[in-house]
Amino acid sequence: MPAASTNNPELHGSAFLKTARGEPAAHAPVWFMRQAGRSLPEYLKLREGVTMLDSCMRPELVVEITMQPVRRYGVDAAIFFSDIVLPLKAVGVDLDIVPGVGPVVAHPVETIADVEAIPDLSPDHVPFITEAVQGLVGELGSTPLIGFAGAPFTVASYLVEGGPSKEHAKTKAMMFGAPEVWDALMRKISGLAAAYLEVQVEAGASAVQLFDSWAGAVTREDYRTHVMPWSAHVLERIGATGVPRIHFGVGTGEILDLMGEAGADVVGVDWRVPLEAGIERVGGRVVQGNLDPTLVFAPTEVMLQRAAEILDAGRAAPGHIFNLGHGVIPSTDPDQLARLTHFVQEHSQR
Ligand code: CP3
Repeated sequence: MPAASTNNPELHGSAFLKTARGEPAAHAPVWFMRQAGRSLPEYLKLREGVTMLDSCMRPELVVEITMQPVRRYGVDAAIFFSDIVLPLKAVGVDLDIVPGVGPVVAHPVETIADVEAIPDLSPDHVPFITEAVQGLVGELGSTPLIGFAGAPFTVASYLVEGGPSKEHAKTKAMMFGAPEVWDALMRKISGLAAAYLEVQVEAGASAVQLFDSWAGAVTREDYRTHVMPWSAHVLERIGATGVPRIHFGVGTGEILDLMGEAGADVVGVDWRVPLEAGIERVGGRVVQGNLDPTLVFAPTEVMLQRAAEILDAGRAAPGHIFNLGHGVIPSTDPDQLARLTHFVQEHSQR
C-alpha cells in the first residue's frame, strides 16, 4: 500500500511532508490540533441540529469541516474531522459524545468477555471514512491530510471509565490488577486503531497522528511495560505504509524518548516541556509543538514573541512542525490563529 502522496509531486514536496520526513523545507510548517471545530463560527453553523457522531459519519460534512480551517488560516496541513471513539462506534460499541462532556460509554469494559464482545474493524465498517478521505484529498490538492486515531491507552481509558476521567483510576486498576484483561483490551484497541488508520491511508491520508492524550498519567516504567508495546504495534503496522507517523500526548515530559522509540517519525511535545529539552529527549527525531494554547489569549505581540522563541528552538531538531502544545481552546479568537499561522510561515523562511 504505497503512500498516496508519492503520486503527487507538489503534495510530496509540501513543507509539512518534507519536514515530517526530516528533509529541509522552505519554512516551518504549521497546523493546530483541534483546528477544525468549536472555535470556528462556520463550524457551529454547520453543526446546528447534527450530533457530533452523526457529523463524523456524513462525508460531505466531514469534508467541509476539515476544509474550513485550511481556507481560513492557510495552514500547512489538514486534520481529518472525526473523533478517537469513532472506530468503536463504527463496530457497534454503544457510546455517545455528549456536548461539553466528551465520549460516554454505555457499558464500561470490565471483563475478558466485555473485550471479546467488541468486534475487530474492517473497512466495511467505515465506508463513510473512505469516502470522506477520498473527497478531501481531491479538494486539498497539495495540502496534506493528517489521518488520526486514539492510542490504545487513551481509548482504553474511555472504555474502562465509561467517560472522561481525571485520575484514570479504574483504567490503571485494571492495568495493575487484571493484566490478562488489560492485555486483551490493549490488543483489541491496537488492532482497531491500526485498521482504522490503514483505511485512512489507503484512501489518501498522507500522514497520521496517534493521539495518546492521557499517556502522561502513567509512570515511565508502567508506560514501558503496559502501554508502549501496544502503541508500538499500531505505529509498526502504519510504518509499512510509508507515511510519516506523529505520536502525541499531554504531560508526557518523562516519556518523550519512549514515545519516539515506540516507532514515531515525529514526536509531539506539549507546552510544559521547553522545546529545547524535548528535542534533546527525543534525540534525532522531528518534533511538533509546542505553544501554550492559552497564549492566543495574550496580546498578539506576546503570542508572536513566544512563537518566535519556539521556532528558534526548533532549529536544533532535524525538523520542526509548529503547533500548539495541545488542542485549540474552544473560545479562541480565530483571527489570532490566522495571525499566528502567517507569522510562523514568514518568520521561519529559509
Ligand atoms: O480539529 C481537529 O483536531 C480534528 C477533530 C478531532 C476531534 N476530536 C473533534 C471533536 C480530533 C483530532 C479529536 C481527537 C480527540 N477526541 C482526542 C485526542 C486529542 C486531544 O484533544 O487530546 C480526545 C481525547 C477526544 C475525546 C473527546 N471528544 C473529547 C475530550 C471531546 C470534547 C468534549 C467537550 O465537548 O468538551 C470530544 C468531542 C469532540 N471531538 C468535539 C470535536 C469538534 C466537540 C464536540 C462538538 O462540537 O459537539
